Amino acid sequence: MTNTASFKQIWQLSLFSFIVAAISGFLYRYGMLYSLPEWLHFANIRHAHSHLMFFNWICAPIMVWMAASITGCTSEKLIRKFTTCLYSMLFLGFLSFPLFLVYGYHSVAIGPANLPLAAIVSGLVMLNWYWFARLYYSNRKGAPSTLSMSFFDGALLALIISSLGAWGVSVFQFTNVDSPLTASAMTHFFLTVFTEGWAVLGILGIIWSQIQDKESLITITPGWLWIPILFGSMMVFPFSLTQTMITPLMLSAAKTGLVLIVLSLSLNVWLLIKSKELNGFLWKSVIALLILKILLQSLAILPVDIWPGEHGLRVLYLHMLLLGFVSITLFESFHPSRNWFAKVLFTTSVFLVVISLINISGYWPARFIIPNIYFWIMIIAILPIIPATHIWISDLLN
Ligand code: HEM
Repeated sequence: MTNTASFKQIWQLSLFSFIVAAISGFLYRYGMLYSLPEWLHFANIRHAHSHLMFFNWICAPIMVWMAASITGCTSEKLIRKFTTCLYSMLFLGFLSFPLFLVYGYHSVAIGPANLPLAAIVSGLVMLNWYWFARLYYSNRKGAPSTLSMSFFDGALLALIISSLGAWGVSVFQFTNVDSPLTASAMTHFFLTVFTEGWAVLGILGIIWSQIQDKESLITITPGWLWIPILFGSMMVFPFSLTQTMITPLMLSAAKTGLVLIVLSLSLNVWLLIKSKELNGFLWKSVIALLILKILLQSLAILPVDIWPGEHGLRVLYLHMLLLGFVSITLFESFHPSRNWFAKVLFTTSVFLVVISLINISGYWPARFIIPNIYFWIMIIAILPIIPATHIWISDLLN
């Protein structure tokens, strides 16, 4: 069993980031109904929220699990190297939050220079990812060749590849090329490889590492469980673009990517269920959300009139995946056999968030939309924060 005890404070800071970022998500919903201070803009709240969630809530716990998988509890020196790297990443993640909240991507006058501070800090976070990757790959040799380690190797590769999209956007700004498609494609390449590659493979790696002894169940070549997801994650970004922007070739590539993801994820689900290791309400919810993800992505392969890049559907899908599948797995993995009631409340509240977002997905019949839906969405947005704060405080006191 992976022992993450040496990284306890990293996990606590990461959980604190979740709470801060989730409060900013609530603030966004509040601002849709009531007035916010004039300096606070919706786009900036969204940037602050999503970057803190991505940098500190998704990255840090997955990296902790990866580091713990190769350091075990043996090498103090190696643990120190990893913790220094992760503290630095968390610090930069926290720093990005007020900068995005106040300035967004805009430049700020500092003396004679105009600097896009939030973008600069985000660049430093990505350099920090490379620092982690260097530590991981250079100490990876001694670790056992398990299925979860293959998932972690693939996940980290996806993280590095995704970052190329983000650098591409920065470099592109300084060229004379006027192509909204290229700029948008690079941004969405980053976001999609990050979520579908890094986050999904990293979380599956965490899940598989907890049922390592059942690996004998895997009667197929293990590569089928993660390689198609890695390649697929790099092909599906056109679905996040405006439908009219993309060429038939891009659409075919995106659909092929989705087929790869759907097939490989289905194999994972089948073997996870067959292992009979993921029991209880929380793990069953994780599997249910994974099946829901597969179903939604299968719909996008079929010739039906659904476009995943449309705002409402995109927000629904991202929260089902990241607040649902990813976050519930993190709570259950970092707190096994503790805080059971709070974790059940968290999971229940996530389902309420998902149901509330279905109402504003743009695909829900108007006559079935709950009256005062934006008020209820605002109230429901607070719910996951309450058990998460309870778990954070109980962890601090432990
Ligand atoms: C209680 C928890 C959460 C609340 C209340 C919340 C709320 C929100 C809100 C209000 C938005 C803006 C929606 C819009 O533009 O219409 C948003 C966007 C976003 N959230 Fe969350 N969120 C939560 C959890 C998470 C988590 C856990 C993640 C990722 C780990 C996440 C990632 C994102 C991303 C990436 C966007 C930008 C979506 C886009 O514009 O494409 N959120 N969230």
